[in-house]
Amino acid sequence: EKGGYEHFMIKEIYEQPKAIRETMSGRLAKDDSSIIFDELKWTKDDLANINKIFIIACGTAYHAGIVGKYYLEQLARVPVEVDIASEFRYRSPLVDENTLTLVISQSGETSDTLAALKEAKRLGARTIAITNVVGSSIAREADQVIYTWAGPEIAVASTKAYTTQLVSVCMFAIYIAGMRGTLPVETIKTLIRGLRELPAQAHELLEDVEPIKTFAQQYGFAEDVFFIGRSLDYAVALEGALKLKEISYIHAEAYAAGELKHGTLALIVDGVPVIALATQHDVYEKTLSNIKEVKARDAVVIGIGLKGDKQLVKYVDHTIYIPATEKYLTPILTVIPLQLLAYYAAVTRGCDVDKPRNLAKSVTVE
Ligand code: M6R
Repeated sequence: EKGGYEHFMIKEIYEQPKAIRETMSGRLAKDDSSIIFDELKWTKDDLANINKIFIIACGTAYHAGIVGKYYLEQLARVPVEVDIASEFRYRSPLVDENTLTLVISQSGETSDTLAALKEAKRLGARTIAITNVVGSSIAREADQVIYTWAGPEIAVASTKAYTTQLVSVCMFAIYIAGMRGTLPVETIKTLIRGLRELPAQAHELLEDVEPIKTFAQQYGFAEDVFFIGRSLDYAVALEGALKLKEISYIHAEAYAAGELKHGTLALIVDGVPVIALATQHDVYEKTLSNIKEVKARDAVVIGIGLKGDKQLVKYVDHTIYIPATEKYLTPILTVIPLQLLAYYAAVTRGCDVDKPRNLAKSVTVE
């Protein structure tokens, strides 16, 4: 059932090109000018009054929500708040009939996410779920559903669910942008063409894992690892740190690179591994200066940049390159080496990769 792979997690990492392709299947207009969600029954009028979107989820799905905030705010120009389900449900959120609540859940059974969805409905919000499991509790409770079509995810550590959640929320943002008229059609076309290339690019990243395996073996016994990045890279850094923590039990933290000086830099000492994500053009120089700061404290830096970047290599100890794509789409690729790093670190440490201690695949109790 593991199809020749040693663990479900690595099998699912390798399934990503296919899973991403299936998520997009039938949803990209032939001429690339729009997103087709036949399953969504909202009209332009239904969405005309929406003045705020809440994205609610837990764990990895929450991290997908943080990326979703960038997508929806930048592409569809709607203010978005992202919340952890267990926080949202107990803080009497400011939600009304002009709020759209988007919940994200691989399993569709996470109890906090389900309760948050019910609370949003009770307060009168319109609701939509992005989920992987057809007929799940969350799918049944939400007004509308977008399925990720990633196929069953067995490993506790979420991988293909995350990348397909990103693809889904990106398509949803383009769809809303289309309805609201916030994006020139040329931009929509560029994004959709970028989406079409993702499966092949993800495949390309999975072809050469040896350097990542080597880093994992080299740094697999570190006590602490830091992930830094700005903008969308920060969102991916959060997910990279969670992956490493949950399956390799290495203490890992993600920081917005600009936040280092406000405390964390005190922890950066000789030999501490720092994974620095630098794929975002708008903040590239700023990230480089943060990389210089950690290098000056003798951190060992693994830089993740876009293919063609000639500068990064000068400031870091090791590099990993991501195929060049639209800035919005980079997270879908950048996370793949981070998943692999966590996987090989866990293998190096002899951890139970598919069933990490204390964790369950689906958290159906509070
Ligand atoms: O099924 P869900 O997407 O609602 O699950 C949410 C989290 O429990 C889940 O993403 C968890 O954080 C994973 N173990 C992360 O790899």
